[in-house]
Amino acid sequence: KYLQEDELSEDVRVLLSTLPTAKGWFVNTIYQYQGFWYSPKQLQGLLNCQKHFQAQDNDILLATQPKSGTTWLKALAFSLINRKNKYPITLNNQDHPLFTNNPHTLVPFLEFDIFHVKDVVPDLSAFSSPRLFATHLPYALLPESMKNSNCKIVYLCRDPKDNFISLWHFSNALRREGSNSLDESFDKFCRGINVGGPFWDHILSYWKETSLLEKPNNNNKKVMFLRFEELRMNTSFVLKNLAEFLGCPFSKEEENQGLMDDILKLCSFENLRNLEVNKNGKRPSGIENKAYFRRGEIGDWKNHLSVEMIEKLNDIVENKMGTFGFRF
Ligand code: A3P
Repeated sequence: KYLQEDELSEDVRVLLSTLPTAKGWFVNTIYQYQGFWYSPKQLQGLLNCQKHFQAQDNDILLATQPKSGTTWLKALAFSLINRKNKYPITLNNQDHPLFTNNPHTLVPFLEFDIFHVKDVVPDLSAFSSPRLFATHLPYALLPESMKNSNCKIVYLCRDPKDNFISLWHFSNALRREGSNSLDESFDKFCRGINVGGPFWDHILSYWKETSLLEKPNNNNKKVMFLRFEELRMNTSFVLKNLAEFLGCPFSKEEENQGLMDDILKLCSFENLRNLEVNKNGKRPSGIENKAYFRRGEIGDWKNHLSVEMIEKLNDIVENKMGTFGFRF
């Protein structure tokens, strides 16, 4: 599953030779590009996407860091925007595509699933409008056309301690042999060395687009900023706001019919995790779908991190993010 040299275009190979490197969690070597860490394959997709993606004003982009709840957000957004015209929410007869497809199949990542092949400009004409994409790229590295269009971006982040623990488990689930030690992985995470990281810079890149502190006259309608914890604790409220932001608010009739609850049930951890496709299916990359559904809870870090680790990570995050008005 690791990238062969000949899968990289010439310009990516040249670029790689100029970049700082570190040992990765999933692949042998990761590269620091414009402040963020990537595997060669991701860099290929990132550059291809930056070069060729043409945004449309009604595009919707789901932006996250790995393990912050991407799979859940994909399921929710897909259900919301398609419920009126294409895929009514049906819990009983299991017609809805989420019963037979992993959410990552229904909402592709720009840099991993669409623009990942070297020297190929993908044909996106089969996407119906509004097009729904996902990305792990930070705001600064999004294609210019996306930043300049009126498309909508939903950003979801998660408490760093839970995000770290989830990432650590995921990295070990993906390894064929051996495992990443908790201590070594933690040390890397704290130094900002993880794919797509530093963790805090990724969040700040989107936070700055919404924050009044950064932009006092901010009239931001482009980025909706969400947290895994609020989604977990206050799901209906967030779902309602999300539907409004995406331009498909719930009607009174839908609310009376209990449609919000149906969507929440359809996309719930318990429902998705127990579907055949998510128990035994695989992504084209070979990753097993079940790796995306572990516990889905808040606070699993308490079972893994020592008091010193907790203090250390809290301090780092406060130092890096507090001055920007961001706190977990
Ligand atoms: P844990 O490892 O803490 O269980 P991502 O989708 O960004 O890869 O994030 C994966 C994390 O989200 C995992 O966290 C996973 O269990 C959790 N998750 C996946 N689907 C979920 C759902 N429907 N509801 C709540 N959490 C979910």
